[in-house]
Amino acid sequence: MTQVNQDKLSSARFSQATDAFVEIFTASVDFDQRMAQQDIQGSKAHASMLLKIGVLTSQEHDDISKGLETISQEISNGTFAWSIKQEDVHMNIEARLTDLIGTAGKKLHTGRSRNDQVATDIRLYLRSEIDNITGLISRLQTALLDVAEREAETIMPGFTHLQVAQPVTFGHHLMAWFEMLVRDKERLQDCRKRINIMPLGAAALAGTSYPIDRDYVAELLEFDRPSANSLDSVSDRDFAIEFAAAGSLIMMHLSRFSEELVLWSSAQFDFIELPDAFCTGSSIMPQKKNPDVPELVRGKTGRVTGHLMSLLMLMKSQPLAYNKDNQEDKEPLFDTADTLINSLRAFADMIPHIQCKKDNMYQAAKQGFSTATDLADYLVRKGMAFRDAHEVVGLAVRLGVDTKRDLSELTLEELQQFSDIITEDVYDVLALEGSVASRNHLGGTAPEKVRQAVQFAREQLKR
Ligand code: ARG
Repeated sequence: MTQVNQDKLSSARFSQATDAFVEIFTASVDFDQRMAQQDIQGSKAHASMLLKIGVLTSQEHDDISKGLETISQEISNGTFAWSIKQEDVHMNIEARLTDLIGTAGKKLHTGRSRNDQVATDIRLYLRSEIDNITGLISRLQTALLDVAEREAETIMPGFTHLQVAQPVTFGHHLMAWFEMLVRDKERLQDCRKRINIMPLGAAALAGTSYPIDRDYVAELLEFDRPSANSLDSVSDRDFAIEFAAAGSLIMMHLSRFSEELVLWSSAQFDFIELPDAFCTGSSIMPQKKNPDVPELVRGKTGRVTGHLMSLLMLMKSQPLAYNKDNQEDKEPLFDTADTLINSLRAFADMIPHIQCKKDNMYQAAKQGFSTATDLADYLVRKGMAFRDAHEVVGLAVRLGVDTKRDLSELTLEELQQFSDIITEDVYDVLALEGSVASRNHLGGTAPEKVRQAVQFAREQLKR
């Protein structure tokens, strides 16, 4: 028989040591050590509460605080000896505390379980990652506003079905991206509200017989309030799923931006030049400049959506209350946060340096008869029914296709053969500038409205 493992949790209960492989299989310390500082923060607050209710003496509390501080420093400077024998971040820190300060260390876990402890740690961790992510989104938004303002008058084709549809301004297009990020931030803030509830006090599942002061701990840890039901507190991971869902939407948006950047920087579109620092070459083709950063962000979107799925599946059949399954929540969450932070950072750094090739954008906007709707609207303004106008424009476009000219390049005589209500002023609406300038309403693509939208957004960002 294998030797009894002295480190084993509740060792008195067991007559057999944990199988060596099972020990590795069940341990989480390799990854959950990322929450070490949150674990210490939670333990400090818990210890202060134990002092307040008279479970700890001030000497014991003092020793615990100092011991935890030492551990925090050991972890920060990389000298802490993590051990798989101690299974997870919580047991590693507690064991080290007892090493450092003796018996007082063994009292820290009074009225607490790793079940409410881990739920608290993840909430603290996600709360601070949400704040980091929100900051990065704001940085990206600021970059978008700067470029949108600079390119408020730059004309490019607007697409539907990836076919040239109507001319838009590049600034307007960038402001569409900005709007997606506004919603992303709102979703994160909303999710943060439900993250910021404190599970500590639920203990293993049923609460504790000590006269704990949960409001006090919640206040120390800056949670909005303690959770309402102990069973729910230790088993709930809705907040993790919500975070992954909000993260998946952010990545989906970045992936859409990426796709456009990849297309636009291709020789076929040739609308923009990505900064060299964000591209790489090919090992065999000397002429290549590949848009690696947007491609990689587009690629990374899949893993975040995958994490959302894995968290949903993790939870779907769990009976109340805590189950070991929940240890599987951490890696997807950490990777979701890391991927978001890295992708947003790459975008926020890259966007200010995007050069647009205005001439190419302009020529492309001219190519697909993008002012055909403007011609129809012109005819309607002059009294023609829209369906009839649609027909007239169809004929004009056919002539343009046959003679390889844009509508604005057809002569007045040519246009008048389709309708005699067309006069010289038609060229104002057929020109791309006239077309975009005429969409001068809230949410429209006119340069004036783009500038207003940028200004409004800047005010919004300050709040
Ligand atoms: N490492 C565990 C987790 O991540 C901590 C909680 C363990 N609780 C337990 N009763 N085994 O979920």
